[in-house]
Amino acid sequence: MIDKEIEEAINRQINEEMYSSYLYLSMSAYFESLGLKGFANWMYVQYQEEKDHAMKFYRYLIERGGRVKLYAIKEPPHEWNSPLHAFEETLKHERHITKCINDLVDLVEKKKDRATFNLLQWYVDEQVEEEANDEEIIQKLKMIGDNPQGLLMLDRELAARTYTPLADEGE
Ligand code: FEO
Repeated sequence: MIDKEIEEAINRQINEEMYSSYLYLSMSAYFESLGLKGFANWMYVQYQEEKDHAMKFYRYLIERGGRVKLYAIKEPPHEWNSPLHAFEETLKHERHITKCINDLVDLVEKKKDRATFNLLQWYVDEQVEEEANDEEIIQKLKMIGDNPQGLLMLDRELAARTYTPLADEGE
């Protein structure tokens, strides 16, 4: 049976991951409205991955005999000033998620819950990758500036991102 405080913290994190998926779906719709199909695809894949992050916690909690509680998902923004602004907000959000995961690690260390500690290592690694991906795209967008040609080239690059369900990665 999982510790009640850890159970509640994981339920809160499920909500954070579901909000992340909602935020990126909203960004995908924003990019669709700009006709940037590649950016929209990249954000749509991110939306799918975030749902997997939530479900990984969901399944884990059930496996440990915990009780899943789904909380209200807050409304994400609908508009951003530019593609660069959207990605800067994405990075800001991911830094917040990294802090949430680190706080969870601190809690399970304090409670000596080794199984949850092991689970969280996957999320720690994932956050490093997510922040690095966002930083790379931000750097490219800054180099592109107001050059529409460059933006279309990046749009083509982001169109190539594909979704791999976690289950297919042997999770
Ligand atoms: Fe699931 Fe992007 O953090």
